[in-house]
Amino acid sequence: MTDMTSIPPVVTIDGPSGSGKGTIAKLLADKLGYALLDSGALYRLTALAALNADVALDGDNLDEARVAAIAGNLDIRFAIAGGEVSAVLEGKDVSRDIRMERVSMAASKVAAIPAVREALLQRQRDFRALPGLVADGRDMGTTVFPDAPVKVFLTASAEERARRRFDQLQGRGVSVSLRDLLEDIRARDDRDMNRAASPLAPAEDAVVLDSTDIDIDGVLHKVLDLVQQRIG
Ligand code: DC
Repeated sequence: MTDMTSIPPVVTIDGPSGSGKGTIAKLLADKLGYALLDSGALYRLTALAALNADVALDGDNLDEARVAAIAGNLDIRFAIAGGEVSAVLEGKDVSRDIRMERVSMAASKVAAIPAVREALLQRQRDFRALPGLVADGRDMGTTVFPDAPVKVFLTASAEERARRRFDQLQGRGVSVSLRDLLEDIRARDDRDMNRAASPLAPAEDAVVLDSTDIDIDGVLHKVLDLVQQRIG
């Protein structure tokens, strides 16, 4: 059991794009009354700030030092209204902008820079507060909160993740090809898992859950059981 009076417990939810970890993390934080860290949003905000500042992000021109300086000096906050979290960069609500495709691409480039990861490390740890934190990302259980009492690695087959994204986009009236989505997902998996700095991987003490054939409620129940066993 974690001593709730001193160190706030952390539940880490790591996994690849489209595994449902964002949805699970949000539901779990609501249910437990814990704070929520969407660490991907920090990489997206860094990417947007770099794009806004016209910093080169391509190949040989990638200006790592400047992106790291931007990450270290980000003027951001997360505002909560009506149960929704919005991301605010330099006073402007950029929640939609950070989900745009060009920002997703840029985020995966800036996330591979070790100095950027280092610059964002303490900022992520600062989210830890009583009564507890749910942290979602790629390296929450391995690097950012290695002492978390509950670590989940949520995965699903690439085909299932592409199909979920396809349904989501179709529901919004966006027409896309399932094959393109599958290719995108495989490319992002490859980048996230094979980078040198803090690659996507389950922590040794993580519980791996495959959500290919389980719905959101089923996954949520399993994670709540783990929280009950390990945090109480
Ligand atoms: O989870 P997301 O799609 O919002 O993440 C955006 C990018 O940031 C994605 O390329 C993976 C990267 N990321 C990371 O490297 N480490 C994290 N803890 C969270 C996200």
